[in-house]
Order: sequence, then C-alpha cells, then structure tokens
Amino acid sequence: MDGRPTKTRLIITVDGPAGSGKTTTAKEIAARLGYRHLDSGALYRALTYALLKADIPESDWAALTVDDLSGLGVRAEASVAVVDLYLGDALLGDELRTPEVTRDVPAVAKLRAVRTWLLDIQRRLGLRGSLVADGRDMGSVVFPDADLKVFLVASLEERARRRLLQDTGRVPTASAVEAEAARIHARDAIDSERELSPLQCPEGALELDTTELEFEEQVGAILKRVIDLTE
Ligand code: DC
Repeated sequence: MDGRPTKTRLIITVDGPAGSGKTTTAKEIAARLGYRHLDSGALYRALTYALLKADIPESDWAALTVDDLSGLGVRAEASVAVVDLYLGDALLGDELRTPEVTRDVPAVAKLRAVRTWLLDIQRRLGLRGSLVADGRDMGSVVFPDADLKVFLVASLEERARRRLLQDTGRVPTASAVEAEAARIHARDAIDSERELSPLQCPEGALELDTTELEFEEQVGAILKRVIDLTE
C-alpha cells in the first residue's frame, strides 16, 4: 500500500507556536495516512465564539464551570477525515477565524474549566487511534502516550509572513509582517507563560525548524518517522 502504515492505528501529535504551520501540516499528514485530523485550536476558538455570541462578558469567564460550558451548545462530531464543530445545529467554519475570536481565544484557553472540559472531549476523539492532533499541549498533556510527537518551530518573521499569505493570498509588505509578528509574539507569550498546559516541546518530540524547509520536506520528515515506527 505505497508505504502507508497498516500495522497500528497511531496517535500523532503536532504542537508548536502560532503560525508554525501545525494545522496545515497535521491535516496533510492525516490525509496521506488516511487518519482523522483534530485541530484542537478550533475547539478553543469554538468556545470563544460561543461566549461572545452569548454576550457573556470577559469579566465573567473566570467563574464559568464545566456545566456552564457544556450548556453553551458547542459540540464536536467526528467525521471520516476531520472533527466538525457545531454551535447548536450550525456547523462552524469561518466564524472561528474572525479577529475578535483570535483576540480573545488566549484568555479562554487559560481557564481551568475550559481545559478540563476540552481534555475529556479530545481524549474521547483519540480512543480509536488513527488520529493526527495539532495544538499546544497535544503531546504534553492530552496524548502523553502518543506514538509520535512532533514540535514545529519557525522564526517569528517567517510565521508572520505565512499567516498573512494564508489569510490574504498576497505577499505581505514588510510593515504588515512587522505588525503581525508583534501580534503573534504577544499571543505566544500568553500561551507559553500561562499556568495550565503552557506551550512546550514535549519530551521525546521530533523538533522541526521549518523556517528554511519546503512544505513537502517537513511532511516527508514526519512521514519517514511514521514509516520507521510501523515497519
Ligand atoms: O492554533 P490556534 O491559533 O487556532 O489556537 C487558538 C488558541 O487556543 C491559542 O491561544 C492557543 C490555544 N490552544 C491551546 O491552548 N491548546 C491547544 N491544544 C490548542 C490551542
């Protein structure tokens, strides 16, 4: 089967800072292996969107309980290739990437009740294996026994450039890159310095600096590890 592993239904984690290419890479690895992809950042974004939509002010977020969060109506449903997120009956997509959600999501991701509630949901999605999960704490907290852990890094400027290119489809100007780099740097600081599940390179992870790598090279490096594991 053209190098596709058939022996086990692996769990592969891909962590890294904002704009490091985790989601695009994890999605591609999942597609090549015929596995499901879990974008865990989208779960945090869905909760943030639900809180904003319900007009719950930020000053009240810290007091929310797991029951309050369950009551917001956010659901994760596994389909063949992805995990679809719903608010009530509405499938969520572009609304998860608005500037408001992007601005507020680090504050939501710091909350203990949020992390407790989402931990359970994420682990259930991994029960049957064959999963590529990307985020900040996939290898360190959610799936500490993952078969393969990857940690992606890239220079701040390169991450800012890629983010803008992805969002606008155009090569960004130097001043736009500088402004985006400052925003990413601020988000990285919140994600890395928070008390609960801070962003960190999990022990034993394959660390890849993708600043100078072509996309195909980074995907190839990860797939090579997968094949080594399953042969
Ligand atoms: O990867 P992203 O930009 O979609 O992540 C959105 C936010 O969620 C970001 O502030 C980090 C946080 N997050 C997290 O704390 N843990 C994860 N496993 C995934 C994302």
